[in-house]
Amino acid sequence: MARRLQAIPRGVYASTPLFIRQAEGSILEDVDGNRFIDLGGGIGCTNAGHRNARVLGALRSQLDAFLHLCFQVTGYESYVALAEKLNELTPGKFAKKTFLVNSGAEAVENAVKIARAFTGRSAVISVEDGFHGRTMMGLSLTSKTHPYKAGFGPFLPDVYRIPFGVPADQRLSHRGPMTVGQVTELLDQTFRRVVAAESVAAVVAEPVLGEGGFVVPRAGFLPALAQICRDRGIVFVADEVQTGFGRTGELFACTHFGIEPDLILTAKSLGGGLPLAGITGRAEIMDAPGPGGLGGTFGGNPASCAAALAVLEELADGQMMAQGRALGEQFQRRAQEWQRQHSFIGDVRGVGAMQAMEFVEGNGVPCAKAAKKLVQHCLHHGVLLLSAGTYDNIIRLLMPLNMSDDEFQQALQVVEDGLSAVASELGELAAAAH
Ligand SMILES: Cc1ncc(COP(=O)(O)O)c(C=O)c1O
Repeated sequence: MARRLQAIPRGVYASTPLFIRQAEGSILEDVDGNRFIDLGGGIGCTNAGHRNARVLGALRSQLDAFLHLCFQVTGYESYVALAEKLNELTPGKFAKKTFLVNSGAEAVENAVKIARAFTGRSAVISVEDGFHGRTMMGLSLTSKTHPYKAGFGPFLPDVYRIPFGVPADQRLSHRGPMTVGQVTELLDQTFRRVVAAESVAAVVAEPVLGEGGFVVPRAGFLPALAQICRDRGIVFVADEVQTGFGRTGELFACTHFGIEPDLILTAKSLGGGLPLAGITGRAEIMDAPGPGGLGGTFGGNPASCAAALAVLEELADGQMMAQGRALGEQFQRRAQEWQRQHSFIGDVRGVGAMQAMEFVEGNGVPCAKAAKKLVQHCLHHGVLLLSAGTYDNIIRLLMPLNMSDDEFQQALQVVEDGLSAVASELGELAAAAH
């Protein structure tokens, strides 16, 4: 750690003090031999588990053939095969094309370029509490100021933000479905007061907010938003970087909401642990930039493509997603009991294995210290857990989908004990404050 602090800027934050020697399945082992059940998956990149056997097999074969070529210089089949697979598997039966890049942020950048080229318009709309990466367009679309945006401006012009169906501060009290009329009214206000509809190239939104705190939109919001985009000639972009590849119990979260985005962005678990991201969408939109308009040296690297094809094979029979859904249900049952016991658990929510708990003080005020204490307790008792949210008051699950029931129950027991420890500490704090 001393060497890390010396050699690496403090901006690259260390959310745990761990240095890992070995990872296998759902277990991390650190350099001191301590073992941890991984509920974070390197921020959602190991849906298929650490060192997935099929991924390793594909990588070994690729190592014996070639590594970097640059797809724009000399082709290789795995890039094409992966594009075909993503075209087939993403929601929507229309003709699609796929372009591969290295990271989620790069996918976001390219989606905006493609939407602008297609529409000839410049404005982009994102949603409150959305997260879209650390590059300049990604940050411009991202909501949370600290630590992501503060000090890094100016951000790109012509970027606007709408509520994710309901203003962020009213989320816990407004749950029912939204009507098309309500969503239309919301967008009409934006198009009248903020930016003209005919200037908007794209709306970019995660179907379930990831970094923003696993916020599930109210029923009706996303279908109405997609319809309004269609009516107004706006490209609807679903950022499935965090929600994708089985996390929500479906291959893509859009399926839960019955929406077929014009462009869909994938990354994280797509690469099975290797850097890879995709922009998949309607063929006519994807073909808007001219030859040479899209590219990058490493995008769709052969090793990453081989790994991704193996990940898709792993997901193909649905077993891993079924296990993910089962884990999600186990969490829901336990967490709802915890919520009855602990008043600081303001919300339990999620879809499939994408589950979260939100911590609050009285009056629904976000309680980051509860989340922090729980994360620390878990770390000291062998469970790696991640927080999220604009107020850092949300605990989220991003474990491998193929984690065993046994490992998951062990992890949940640690969380349960941690919640009791947090409750007594919060009680002590409250008593000390009086
Ligand atoms: C929804 C979403 N979009 C984009 C990104 C950025 O991806 P990357 O970190 O690979 O650039 C993330 C990363 O957490 C994300 O969750």
